[in-house]
Amino acid sequence: MTRITFENQTFETQTDETVLQTLLRNNQQIPYGCKAGACQCCLMQSLDNVPPLASQIGLKDSQQKQNYFLPCICTAENDMNVALPNTQTAWFESEVIEKKALSSNVILLKLKSAQPLAFFAGQFVNLRHGEVIRSYSIANIPNSNHELAFHIRVLPNGKFSRFVADELQVGMPLEFSHAQGNCHYVEGKSEQPLLLIGTGTGLAPLYGILCDALENHKHQGEIHLFHGSRDESGLYFENELRELENRHANFHYTPCLSAEGNDEKYAQGRVNQIALQQFQNLEKWRVYLCGQPEMVLQTKRLAYLQGASLQQIYADAFSS
Ligand SMILES: Cc1cc2nc3c(=O)[nH]c(=O)nc-3n(C[C@H](O)[C@H](O)[C@H](O)COP(=O)(O)OP(=O)(O)OC[C@H]3O[C@@H](n4cnc5c(N)ncnc54)[C@H](O)[C@@H]3O)c2cc1C
Ligand code: FES
Repeated sequence: MTRITFENQTFETQTDETVLQTLLRNNQQIPYGCKAGACQCCLMQSLDNVPPLASQIGLKDSQQKQNYFLPCICTAENDMNVALPNTQTAWFESEVIEKKALSSNVILLKLKSAQPLAFFAGQFVNLRHGEVIRSYSIANIPNSNHELAFHIRVLPNGKFSRFVADELQVGMPLEFSHAQGNCHYVEGKSEQPLLLIGTGTGLAPLYGILCDALENHKHQGEIHLFHGSRDESGLYFENELRELENRHANFHYTPCLSAEGNDEKYAQGRVNQIALQQFQNLEKWRVYLCGQPEMVLQTKRLAYLQGASLQQIYADAFSS
């Protein structure tokens, strides 16, 4: 058992509890989003001990040196005295300019930022509604209208996604954070083949990356996108992707369905198995993986075993 001191109060941790869980269980007001080390909403500073290295993954060197850490992925090894950073996340204003259903449970949401934006398609921002903060990947390339597009999967009891489905309307304001994440197209090596594998709304960043590669950078190498879902209803962007395939000879789209009894015109089975079976030597490839965390983790390992270098594997796990 260890003790966490925050704003002059000390709390005991329970077995395997993260620092964030300890603080929230004791009714402390700590901002958080993904609870998985991705969004950095919960950033804190250790005022005494050096925090465990694993809780500093993804932070800048300068932040690591100042003992900043992510309490949602920090299991305290020693007693810690912690504080919220002085500089809170900057939030930017935007207005909803489009909201439409892409399928029975995926919504296309478009925002127009009040100011110019710097981002790479495929990165993610945090969206905020009151206390609820969630990460969403950017599915478009930067444009002069300062627009951001998202594919949002509506969960039956999801706090943020239900707000988007039930309450958010065109014309309403919505706050977002700066763009983060390394899962985006990287210029150079235009001949390199690209393998993109995604499940569900993991397609959102992959679609952004595709548009960036094909339309902004005129990528010359072959690009293969495998999109997986249980059944046909999850292939919510099929028409747009077929259209992109018609316009670019080097782009190939393979929709994959994992449930029994689906239309045989689609590849049958798990999306990662189908893709890795088709391309068994990934030595020269750049690989992008987005969506369900188990799929992302497993495919990262398998892609590495099939020859892809770790520097050439870009991954975003949609932990929720
Ligand atoms: C880097 C990153 C990028 C992301 N990008 C996207 C994106 O582009 N699009 C997108 O849709 N999401 C994305 N996510 C996930 C997103 O941030 C939210 O976690 C998700 O939308 C759920 O938020 P919520 O508030 O609606 O649900 P919450 O209130 O947070 O509830 C989530 C919980 O709902 C439960 N749940 C209830 N019903 C279901 C169900 N049918 N299936 C699964 N779980 C269920 C689960 O227990 C889950 O823990 C991303 C996450 C990360 C970390
Ligand atoms: S809540 Fe800790 S990083 Fe997202």
